[in-house]
Amino acid sequence: MKFGHFDDSNREYVITNPRTPYPWINYLGNEDFFSIVTNTAGGYSFYKDARLRRITRYRYNNVPVDDGGKYFYINENGKLWSPGWKPVKTELDRYECRHGMGYTKITSEVDQLEAEVLYMVPLGYHGEVQRVKLTNHSDRKRSFSLFSMVEWCLWDALEDNTNFQRNFSTGQVEIVNSTIYHKTEYRERRNHYAFYTVNEKLRGFDTDREVFLGLYNGFDAPDAVVESQSRNSHAHGWSPIAAHHLEIELEPGEEKQLIFVLGYVEVPGADKFVENQVINKVPAEQMIAKFQKPEDVDRAVEKLASFWDDLLSVYQLEHSEEELNRAVNIWNQYQCMVTFNFSRSASFFESGIGRGMGFRDSNQDLIGFVHQVPERARERIIDIASTQFEDGSAYHQYQPLTKKGNDAVGSNFNDDPLWLILACDEYIKETGDWSILDVMVPFDNDESNKATLFEHLKRSFYHVVHNLGPHQLPLIGRADWNDCLNLNCFSETPGEAFQTTENKEGGVAESVFIAGMFVLYGDAFVKLCEKRGLDKEALEAAGHIDDMKKVVDEHGWDGLWFIRAYDHFGEKVGSNEREEGKIFIESQGMCIMAGIGLEDGRARTALDSVKERLDCEYGIVLNNPAFTKYYVQYGEISTYPEGYKENAGIFCHNNPWIMIAETLEGNGDAAWEYFRKICPPYLEEISDLHKTEPYVYSQMIAGKDAFKPGEAKNSWLTGTASWNFYAISQFILGIRTDFDGLVINPVIPKAWDGYVVTRKFRGATYRIEVSNPTHVSTGIAEVSLNGEKLEGNLVPICQEGSVNQVGVVLGK
Ligand code: BGC
Ligand code: NOJ
Repeated sequence: MKFGHFDDSNREYVITNPRTPYPWINYLGNEDFFSIVTNTAGGYSFYKDARLRRITRYRYNNVPVDDGGKYFYINENGKLWSPGWKPVKTELDRYECRHGMGYTKITSEVDQLEAEVLYMVPLGYHGEVQRVKLTNHSDRKRSFSLFSMVEWCLWDALEDNTNFQRNFSTGQVEIVNSTIYHKTEYRERRNHYAFYTVNEKLRGFDTDREVFLGLYNGFDAPDAVVESQSRNSHAHGWSPIAAHHLEIELEPGEEKQLIFVLGYVEVPGADKFVENQVINKVPAEQMIAKFQKPEDVDRAVEKLASFWDDLLSVYQLEHSEEELNRAVNIWNQYQCMVTFNFSRSASFFESGIGRGMGFRDSNQDLIGFVHQVPERARERIIDIASTQFEDGSAYHQYQPLTKKGNDAVGSNFNDDPLWLILACDEYIKETGDWSILDVMVPFDNDESNKATLFEHLKRSFYHVVHNLGPHQLPLIGRADWNDCLNLNCFSETPGEAFQTTENKEGGVAESVFIAGMFVLYGDAFVKLCEKRGLDKEALEAAGHIDDMKKVVDEHGWDGLWFIRAYDHFGEKVGSNEREEGKIFIESQGMCIMAGIGLEDGRARTALDSVKERLDCEYGIVLNNPAFTKYYVQYGEISTYPEGYKENAGIFCHNNPWIMIAETLEGNGDAAWEYFRKICPPYLEEISDLHKTEPYVYSQMIAGKDAFKPGEAKNSWLTGTASWNFYAISQFILGIRTDFDGLVINPVIPKAWDGYVVTRKFRGATYRIEVSNPTHVSTGIAEVSLNGEKLEGNLVPICQEGSVNQVGVVLGK
């Protein structure tokens, strides 16, 4: 069952039924000011940091599920409705929510009165603009009240949710004409306030939530709205809000536009006040002046659209399957930008108060957006590397506002450092910017202790070499990629955090997964050394990699697949010797991506085992058989019921590792089948089961052992976005960036006739036309550049600004 449809020409998903199986959301904002908006106008805003600078309040896991947002109410002669359906939930004669690239437009109609609300964050603007268009389609004159309402958050979202003895006495506002200012804590140490305004004279306003709603009412029936009479309340403590009340009159056929702005302002200390208690409103007035006329909004909309034209134009596919086109050209790339902006901080599954930016997450996210915003990728790499410790280990997370490592979570996730090599390698391949390796980057943000980025990579590499266990495999630490495989934790105490507890400190548990990573990204490090003429370094590092390969051969192979790890007692994890958790996906993907077993058939054997034991209708599960009881020596993985999350859920993040592994085996049909199974547009028809948005990936789909296989959770903020884009764009469609050009190596289903990819790379454009006349999966008969046959499959870097035709014929 579907709840809407794709509109590819507008790059939108159009929801036509407000009762989606879960709130289906979108993200607004690209740099500093961000909003989350649901298909029924729920959601909230923040500035840079969802925890520390929350602008409007939101209650997660609420009843009903999505309550609170950027609401509008219409009261026409006692008939109440909301353009977003919620919160009033009056049946609408028409409803449509268009989630687009950085904006959301909800249009609805009741009794021939149409209301369209556009929510957007203009580029370079610290605020959300809401354009409300009201149109009278009837042949009688209409007059009605329009109310707006947002609820302020008292800045620190965690405090806001917990410290009520204080919060209920601190709230402060000012009201001037049509603008409501929220200035809680501004009198003391904050130099920022927020405002909500409209470009029209008010009939009235409210700023005290209890007065506006009535203490015992919900958002669906505020007293002021029901009575069409705002109270002009002035908040003192309790819960400050901003609600505007406007009287609207529309002649038959008339349309009226209103512009609301929710803004955020910082004022330097000396200029904070114009007199005691009166805040300096000049910066807010300047912001407001920018959005007074409908044309101002139109222009911002156009700019946003051309911003996205540019971003998405770097990789564009023309294929006969429209689902694939919309995944590759629009939604997968859009999701990659969202994960770049938000990491794992704020979604409908991440509260914005829990996690900062992940070291491993951000490095992996980068491979999905580096082609779109290389300069910002560069900055991100430096930010991440700046949190690394001298010994090569890394803070697991850092806060985006301070960019400092997060002490509470700490370090000792032993895969973390290696992901930095992946990010740098992909960055240089995309941009050719070798200078990044010479940038002086601090350790642990200490400006007095710096080394080149190259040195940081070296420390990442040697952190593994210096931390080997009894089998000479890498020590796992608190966990590797799988946060829930906690082999040194041994937790018997309820509530203890699996990720930060190490009851077996100095533990000896080892990871075959990190061993594969070390071979893969260690090899990338060796190539970087070679390119820089550091032959001795390269040789030495290559020696360590050879050693590691031998160790994996000796201790990492179980007969039909790669072992996952060794636990504290030296017992194999992910082995046929075990009763449960015999096989894990991660070490199959990572070891084969590293090339281990490609030559001697073990890779094929392991992939066949994946097919046989892990694959199911909805994707590849993480492990099998699922754990049915708690294993103290394994930790959190065995706490999840079977089929969910890391315990045999379809953890979509590492499905692409298997896709890539299949491409390395030349098996395009298998790679494609795995891709298609979890690719959102292909799941649109089962939206009722899938539950989360059909336009983006979710972290997890319940696996074959679950109560409800096929049901997804944790949409939007997941490494799934970047890895799937990486797999389809570079390994299946096979347009791979390299230091000296684009390597062309498609591995596709035999049935495909061909496709065209337009790729912008190092300032030139390449129109790559792939044809498959003999219906093979892989193998290249010929590559030509502007009509001339090339030796091999490397398309060299062409002149900046040039447009080039690349012909690719698959076959023998
Ligand atoms: C989740 C993981 C997550 C970790 C860290 C665990 O409970 O299952 O997916 O990475 O917490 O937040
Ligand atoms: C989500 C985390 O953000 C990521 O870092 C981790 O690799 C996966 N969960 C798997 O546990």
